[in-house]
Amino acid sequence: MSLFIKGGTIVTHEETYQADILCSGNKIVEIGQQLTPPQDATLLDATGKLIMPGGIDPHTHMQLPFMGTVAKDDFASGTRAALAGGTTSIIDFVIPNPQQSLLEAYHQWREWAQKAHSNYTFHVAITWWDDSVGKEMETLVKQYGVNSFKHFMAYKNAIMATDDILVASFTKCLELGALPTVHAENGELVYHLQNSLMEQGITGPEAHPLSRPSSVEGEAANRAISIANTLGAPLYLVHVSTEEAVDAIRYAKDHGHTIFGEVLAGHLTVNDSVYQNPDWATAAAHVMSPPFRPKHHQDALWKGVQGGTLQTTATDHCAFCSEQKAMGKDNFTQIPNGTAGVEERMMVLWEKGVNEGKITPNEFVALTSTNTAKIFNIYPDKGCVRVGADADLVIWNPNAEKTLSAKTHQSNIEHSIFEGMTIHGIPETTICNGALAWHEGKLLAQSGDGKYIDRPTYAPFYEALKKRQQRAKPQCVQR
Ligand code: URP
Ligand code: ZN
Ligand code: ZN
Ligand code: ZN
Repeated sequence: MSLFIKGGTIVTHEETYQADILCSGNKIVEIGQQLTPPQDATLLDATGKLIMPGGIDPHTHMQLPFMGTVAKDDFASGTRAALAGGTTSIIDFVIPNPQQSLLEAYHQWREWAQKAHSNYTFHVAITWWDDSVGKEMETLVKQYGVNSFKHFMAYKNAIMATDDILVASFTKCLELGALPTVHAENGELVYHLQNSLMEQGITGPEAHPLSRPSSVEGEAANRAISIANTLGAPLYLVHVSTEEAVDAIRYAKDHGHTIFGEVLAGHLTVNDSVYQNPDWATAAAHVMSPPFRPKHHQDALWKGVQGGTLQTTATDHCAFCSEQKAMGKDNFTQIPNGTAGVEERMMVLWEKGVNEGKITPNEFVALTSTNTAKIFNIYPDKGCVRVGADADLVIWNPNAEKTLSAKTHQSNIEHSIFEGMTIHGIPETTICNGALAWHEGKLLAQSGDGKYIDRPTYAPFYEALKKRQQRAKPQCVQR
């Protein structure tokens, strides 16, 4: 099976040039000028179009059992949406219940993901601790290609990781060469503010952002970073939504620490006015954590993106329909937290980033694909267009336009946080594992075509970090 893409302009994180591409099997096998296609190749004319690495969304929750229900997009519909938006790989989350075996949960998620249309891999959440958890982390790393572990500092009485768990798990990550990641919100404060708002009779979705002010994120971001820095561990902060957290990451990076930040397409473009919507269902549709923020924070996020403090873009795709959101009709704390976006992420970043001159097309590639591939150690198989890389590509038409709407999106839910946004420059064809996966508005990939991605530990940044640690090793004073 070969695929020949003629006349396009290749855009990578570092260069832009015109060339033809030949894919064979699931690999890119040739890139060059005026290549002659093999006779049996499928031909694609990309004249006037851009060819970029397929997007990698490092933060999705397909089919997640959460807050008494299960997210509406499963691995089939969620990855269909991903491919429609030019994303060829997702990093989803295995979230064991407290006291549940990590391996048992991992195998459960692997089974659910067998119907994926796009490629996928998993972070594994650490929701409790004893010695067996550390041992299972080791097994996941050594036998199952997991190289990152997630810690929810929020969601008290459910999956919250307290400081003792963070210390134990970050230490284990460091020993294994794996990357700890955190959802940074102070769960105690959220719990306190939720109860206080309910007591005051503020029970609607407008209470959601009030229960999670920016300081709640700022405190947790600073704490997680301080714990990681003290232990000498690297850290990746998911869905950074506040100026305080951006400042904390920048400060730590400026002081030589290995800290990474992720930002969501939603946090960059949707502001907190959505919670004031007089229609309960519309306001509730935007309930996610951390919440959408005032413009002041959005400006800080864009500056973080432009200045390199935030390296990756994600969606936290976790789709709940109106019926599910209505579980919190009389109590905002019961509204399942989550919004969709895996299909729109790249388009939104193109429109608001590239078209508004905030980032270049090469930076767009870094932010939507390459940086994630590097941080989670799947580069250069993923995240780049070069001979030998996996043939995961998106063909982008910079001259086509489209208006985003729940009426036409691939997600199973009836609401879009990006409703009505017109995009100038859209993904037209998505190639996954060397095959046409999405083309001319149609899904061509089959359920089950997606492949699990093994991720080795000790990403390149770890070598530098370990050397620093070796040099700073405590020494006895010889007396
Ligand atoms: O509201 C959200 N983000 N739901 C999914 C779980 C999480 O916190 O990432
Ligand atoms: Zn989260
Ligand atoms: Zn400020
Ligand atoms: Zn999440």
